[in-house]
Amino acid sequence: MSSTKSINLADLDLFENGAPWKAFDELRASDTLHWSDEEAPNSGFWSVTKFHEIVKVLRDPDTFTSKHFTNLEEVDAEQEEARRSLLETDGTRHRAMRRLLQGEFTPQAVAKYETFLRGLTATTLDNAFAKGEFDFVEEVAADFPIRVLAKILDVPDSDTGQLIEWGNRMVGFDDPEHADLMMNDPESEKYRLVPFRSPAALEVFAYGDELARQRRGKDGKDLVSVLVNGEMSDGIPLTERDFHTNFLLLVVAGNETTRHTITHTMNNLINNPDQLAFLQENPDQINWAVEEFLRYASPVYHFRRTATRDVEFNGTMIKAGQKVVPWFASGNRDSTMFENPNKMDVTRNPNEHMTFGRGGPHMCLGNALARIELRIMFEDLIGRVDKVERTGDLDFLRSNFVHGIKRMPVKVTLR
Ligand code: HEM
Repeated sequence: MSSTKSINLADLDLFENGAPWKAFDELRASDTLHWSDEEAPNSGFWSVTKFHEIVKVLRDPDTFTSKHFTNLEEVDAEQEEARRSLLETDGTRHRAMRRLLQGEFTPQAVAKYETFLRGLTATTLDNAFAKGEFDFVEEVAADFPIRVLAKILDVPDSDTGQLIEWGNRMVGFDDPEHADLMMNDPESEKYRLVPFRSPAALEVFAYGDELARQRRGKDGKDLVSVLVNGEMSDGIPLTERDFHTNFLLLVVAGNETTRHTITHTMNNLINNPDQLAFLQENPDQINWAVEEFLRYASPVYHFRRTATRDVEFNGTMIKAGQKVVPWFASGNRDSTMFENPNKMDVTRNPNEHMTFGRGGPHMCLGNALARIELRIMFEDLIGRVDKVERTGDLDFLRSNFVHGIKRMPVKVTLR
């Protein structure tokens, strides 16, 4: 107990070189929930680090709600109302919002992108590999998911650079290289009613408005058309604000996450050449491998909850209103769930990881899309390369929210 007291998961220095795996191991070994103090105006949070305890939190949205937001930033009622998307909604309204969109994200629905994804992967890898030495993030990982998004939103490829930039500026809110304004900058007060307190959010809203204007009342099948023309199962139409926040969620949710999973996976295969060799010999094992890519990468550290009542949890008294943080990345390395959790094993089966959440109502809507993107990218990449080496240091995103890599210089030798 005392040895874990000094661990503060609010301290971004702990995340400077990627995930604090050792701290997570120590926290899981301790018997109680762990408290981290935060600088004002935030008030600290409880951390849940064991797999089965995280599942308990995710499955009980009545006690551990997402309504009071899912990052560590504490927001007031006015901000909640203005910034809420389906991610920060619970109950009937959440189900109605999810129903509106879920038809676009089933495994059957995303299978229609297979041919497009194969072509896109081939072009992305042709261009990158022609260079021999390059930054893997810029040439491969960043471009690919955003081009998929452009396809789903039915917007021109020429918009992708802008979409990447908006995503970086918002999701990198704790990293001075990416954020327009740090959250503790008094200037950011001007943006307190928009997601991530980021001026970029206003640009995304304006971009979404223009798409909505063009598509309202028409019979388009793209995601924007579904948002503006679809019928809500609870009979309550989306407001303009709902459109803004959900459009923005769709723009950011699938990009950083998939990008970082692709980069981590490349890095993990570089560090584990036996796993790369196995997949080159056994390409039919790719589906199980994708699950291990996801578990081992854990690109999202957490989505936090808030206790709605005083509740005793595993011997700890959590008070109503306190923040409770399920650390998915830690749950993915829990030895009570995964044998040799710190080993990358692409044959791991079963592999019930929590990279997309697990079992709760907010379980990632885009998981089938992310899975098909990863499968097609690595099927092609693994078939082409003889050797991939890092030619410089990894540069990690300064964040305890997203486990991200900003740069990864590599040299590729082809088969
Ligand atoms: C490897 C890539 C991805 C990872 C690791 C990831 C991870 C997650 C996680 C952890 C959650 C929240 C789970 C919870 O709080 O219980 C989530 C929610 C969500 N994700 Fe993903 N995601 C990925 C890709 C995508 C893609 C491609 C899309 C679609 C464009 C997407 C759309 C969403 C949406 C809309 C939600 C909110 C669902 C809700 O609140 O009901 N994600 N994702």
